[in-house]
Amino acid sequence: MAKKTIADVEVKDKKVFIRVDFNVPLDETGKIVDDRRIEMAIPTIESVLNRGGSVILASHLGRPKDAPDPKYTMQPTAVRLSELLKKPVAFATDTVGSDAKSKVAALKNGDILVLENLRFQPGEKNGDESFANELAAFADIYVNDAFGTCHRTDASMYAVPKAFGSKPKVCGFLVEKEIKYLSNAISNPQRPFIAIIGGKKVSDKILVIKNLLGICDKVLIGGAMAYTFNIARGENVGDSFIEPDKVDLAKELLSIAGNKLELPVDTHVSNKFSADGEKKIVKSGTIETGWQGLDIGPETSQIYAKIIKEAQTVVWNGPMGVCEIPPFDEGTKKIAQAIVDSKAISIIGGGDSAAAIQLLGFADKVSHVSTGGGASLEMLEGKKFESVAVLDEK
Ligand code: 3PG
Repeated sequence: MAKKTIADVEVKDKKVFIRVDFNVPLDETGKIVDDRRIEMAIPTIESVLNRGGSVILASHLGRPKDAPDPKYTMQPTAVRLSELLKKPVAFATDTVGSDAKSKVAALKNGDILVLENLRFQPGEKNGDESFANELAAFADIYVNDAFGTCHRTDASMYAVPKAFGSKPKVCGFLVEKEIKYLSNAISNPQRPFIAIIGGKKVSDKILVIKNLLGICDKVLIGGAMAYTFNIARGENVGDSFIEPDKVDLAKELLSIAGNKLELPVDTHVSNKFSADGEKKIVKSGTIETGWQGLDIGPETSQIYAKIIKEAQTVVWNGPMGVCEIPPFDEGTKKIAQAIVDSKAISIIGGGDSAAAIQLLGFADKVSHVSTGGGASLEMLEGKKFESVAVLDEK
């Protein structure tokens, strides 16, 4: 059933509480290094402002320990939002304290207020009801536009919308878009439907691979997780990273996969985990001691690119190699290029693959780049989120 969105509610003269995910990466100096999550929340924010409402934004940043920690203040995100919107954005130095209360009370139509980090309050992670009631008292309408946090049941994601009672509780445009691509497009895909799953650990993605094997036409494996599959087939991976305790699981996946699971046929190896080691391409499963696989090889890239070319829907999560050490970013680049060159609906899961697509300047050449890391993985696993279930139906 479809959820109501912010477009379905009257916001004029209303205070709108928007739970956003402004949990953005910061450098050592506290500077925001990637503001995509802030940028992606703007359509929802502007929809309220342009229709005569005011906006209260609440988010977490990092994992502070239930108490204020200057390292994790939301203040830089308010500054960045103000730059992006080209209008003033007020900031409350607490979350539900006297500063937040007086600034909420002073809000006029068209105003925007960012509250201090939700996780500075123990009630956020505990799902505390009285904390939720205090936040719910701030506004007339609740909006969940925090896709990256939708897999959590923190107070602001579940207890707060509940505390809104009969007042509207709807999703924002970002959450609507993420669900459209990560859930709807996948449950009713245009075929051939191809998933490309990479990354270091097979353990992080077992449930994703299992779910996708049930619905995809092919699942292409890359990244270090491929070496655990090689071990499961009794092959040699030299000093490559593997998860010995996940070999049985890899065996199980191989046995249920039939011919749907594609493993690399060659691999780019080095005798050092760095750019200055010796390098060569070897057949997968034949890596000698003293060497480790750091990327898929060129033949694998070619085979995968050919499969991707025929696809109508592509989902990609996880890099094909150690992208931070060139030339072991080549496999990932070739796969990204193949996705961009294809005519498929292309959905890039969050985290490293989203970062890779951004870095290559391809982000606007694919259908959707998710802002969720854990949330997009759980959605690909087929999980339903309580934080979305609690919102009003259309
Ligand atoms: C994320 O970046 O995955 C979300 O913001 C959730 O953060 P968390 O894993 O700290 O709950």
